[in-house]
Parts: sequence; structure tokens; C-alpha cells
Amino acid sequence: MALTRTRTQELFQRAKKSFPYGVNSNFRYWGEEETNVFVRGEKCYVFDADENRYIDYRLGFGPVILGHGYPAVVDRVTHAIKDGTVYAATHPLEISVAERMKRMTGLDKVRFANSGTEATMHALRIARAHTNREKFIKFEGTYHGMYDYALFSTTIGQARSMGSRRSPIRIASSSGIPYGVGEYVFTLPYNDLEMLRRTVQGRWGEIAAIMVEPLMGNNASVMPEPGFLELMRELCSEYGIVLIVDEVKTGFRIANGGAQQYFHFKADLATYAKSIANGFPLAAIAGTDEIMSVIQPGRVAVGGTYCGNVPGTAAADATLELLETQPVLDTIGRRGRRLMEGIDKILNEANIPHALMGPPQMFGFVLGSQHAPTNYRDALDTNMKMYESIMLEMIQRGAMPEPDNREPWFLCYDHTDEVIDETLNIFYDSVKAVIQKGKASL
Ligand SMILES: Cc1ncc(COP(=O)(O)O)c(C=O)c1O
Repeated sequence: MALTRTRTQELFQRAKKSFPYGVNSNFRYWGEEETNVFVRGEKCYVFDADENRYIDYRLGFGPVILGHGYPAVVDRVTHAIKDGTVYAATHPLEISVAERMKRMTGLDKVRFANSGTEATMHALRIARAHTNREKFIKFEGTYHGMYDYALFSTTIGQARSMGSRRSPIRIASSSGIPYGVGEYVFTLPYNDLEMLRRTVQGRWGEIAAIMVEPLMGNNASVMPEPGFLELMRELCSEYGIVLIVDEVKTGFRIANGGAQQYFHFKADLATYAKSIANGFPLAAIAGTDEIMSVIQPGRVAVGGTYCGNVPGTAAADATLELLETQPVLDTIGRRGRRLMEGIDKILNEANIPHALMGPPQMFGFVLGSQHAPTNYRDALDTNMKMYESIMLEMIQRGAMPEPDNREPWFLCYDHTDEVIDETLNIFYDSVKAVIQKGKASL
């Protein structure tokens, strides 16, 4: 039942002549035969260059919270950009989006950026300036963007070299990162309360920040264990460390107030991108008055030509207005829960050990283990091959989650109950096909 992909292949071959590996982000390269070229999206669907339609559970890696080409967002952007897109000056839309954000997140001050990478990079500088310390803690398997400081212990290929859990080795996730940069980074296993406490108590005088994904949105939505985020909050307050909560994936997706509302804890700085603008490029750093006040001309540099650009802020204005006035995230949550329950039932019937994790707006699951992993190392020990085989069967049948199980299933407001039913039928057929092909032996 192979899909026709002639035009997609032609475009990919053309793209290879212009871009390394034919893509503009390494994560988009799936192989010579499999790499996608999408020509449009509509609601919860994407269409490839051969007009094959897929129910989209990748949603651009998370940003599309309402749906592709959502009319209320497109209309507001179209109206706003008729007058221009960038002015090197403040625009009223920036102010209204910041006011909405403050109301929704409970944080005091905001600065806009253009990508999650920029937001977390700026947050780190702000934390260093505030504390006058230089190092920071991040966790194995969390992803905070594409710059040197953040790219440690995130890639799958080198994961086996991370050393013992008691004495983790930080692994650069890319060539080209100066060796010395690693000296500024502590990489700890997620959910290891004792290691966290020990590291902070031993080294607090050097540590500017703890940067954390409040759930592992780049590792199958592994959840924080009870006490983990609370301990982090406690240690940061006690030792004057800045708690940077990276809400790039969770913000405006798992609750209007993001993971801080969901898990009942408070960041010093939080970073947002993705769902804030339903797929338009906008990101933000938000934080307490005290910490954000280090941003001053001549003191801490934070800015950029496109920060607060009109298309991004207009899109965010419409998206956040909908989130505030309609039960968007609750509706997505209810439908996501049905999808999770259906997947659970099908895997139980097929006798495939599994564990589902995460909030229904961005859930993940692992195969080959009945226990939900609590960190990166354990998640990598599950049957990722079988997971990938099932996802590839789904794609052939018109539903597209990411084949790599570290990426959650993202849902949007346009995933209707009927679409969930259709997805479950496709999932059932895909599991059956994998079993029949003998790929489900554990
Ligand atoms: C938690 C988290 N932080 C930061 C980033 C980087 O965001 P961007 O790709 O917009 O630079 C990502 C991207 O997936 C992310 O998931």
C-alpha cells in the first residue's frame, strides 16, 4: 500500500542541490526515500507534494495549537501586515500581547524574541548577569535550542557515552562546539533529586541557573516525579540561583498558564515560543520584575531586528485571545485523552507492553516496558524500533506522528472527535500490520 511520492521525490532531489541533506533543519531529514515535502496545511491536516493527506500530529513540532491556517489568526495577521511588518520601534500589538501573557502566566515582565533558541539563550545571559555566576545545570535528554551552551547530552547517537548516573559525562551534541563551553554546563539525569541536591549544595557559588523542561517535551513527554520541580524551586530560592523554566513546548499548550499552572510552581524566568502564535515566529522571555530589571541599555544586551515583529505579535494576539475566551486547551485535552485511552486499549489487546505519559495535549508513549521511564537513559532503553515501525505504517495510512518516539504527539483545536476515531482505526491497522510482519516481537 505504498503512497505515490513522485512529485515529493522530485522536489526533494531539487532541494538537495540547494540545502545540505535537502532540508533547513537537520530534524527534518528522514532518509533518502522518506523525507517529506509539504505544500500546504488545512485544519489538522498536512498535504505533501503528491496531494497525499495526513492527519498531522507533529504540527510543526508543536506550534500549531489551533489548526493550520486558522482563519481568526490569518485574518488578524493579514489585516495587521497591510501597514507594514517591522518598524524598529514599539507597536501597540506588542503591548497587548505582553499584557495577555502577563495575565495568563502570572509573570511580571516580558521581552519578545523570534525562536525558542533565542529565548533560552537570552534567559541564560539574564541569569548570569543577575547572579554574577557563569555555570548552569541542564538535564540529560532535554532540548533548549541550537546554540553552543544548550547542545549537551541531547542526541541519541552518543547517549551510551554519558557515563554513570552518579557521575554523568556531558556529551556535546554537535561538532563545532568549543571544548571550553562544556565547562560551563552541568548535565544531570532528569528526576534524580539526590544528584540535583548534591550538585547545588556542592557548587552553588558557581551556578547561575537551572534550566529545565518542566516535562520532557523532547523525550516522549516523560513527567517530573513528585518533588522534582519543587526541590528545584526550593534550591534556587535558597542558593540565589535563577530557575529558568523552558516552556517552549508546554507554554500555552498544557494550560493557559503553561507548566507552572499545571504543576503549581513558579519560575524566575520562563521562555515561550511555539503555541504562543499558532505557528508564526514569535518567542518570549518572561520573568519577575527583579530579574528582568537587569535588562538595561549598556548593561545586559537583549534584542534583535525582528523582536516583536508585527506578523508574530498579530498572530499571538489572536491566538492568546482565543485561548482566553474559548475552552481551547480543555477541548484538546478531552480529545487527546480519548486518543490516549484508545491507544492504550489497542496495545493491551495486542499484548504489547507499553506506558503512556504526559498531558493529553502533548502525550508520548514507549513500547517494550510497562513502566513509564523517568529519565532519558531509561527512555532510550525501550523498544524505539517497534515504535518507529508502527508510526511508519500509520504514515502510509494517512496519519502522521513523528516516527521518533522522543517527539510527543501534538494535538490542536481542529482535531475533532471524528479525526480521533479515524486515527485510532489507523493505529489499530498499523499495529496489526507490524505484528503480521513479525516486527512486534519483543
Ligand atoms: C523545550 C524547547 N526549548 C527550546 C527549543 C528551541 O526552539 P526553536 O526551535 O524555536 O529555536 C525547542 C524546540 O523544539 C524546545 O522544544
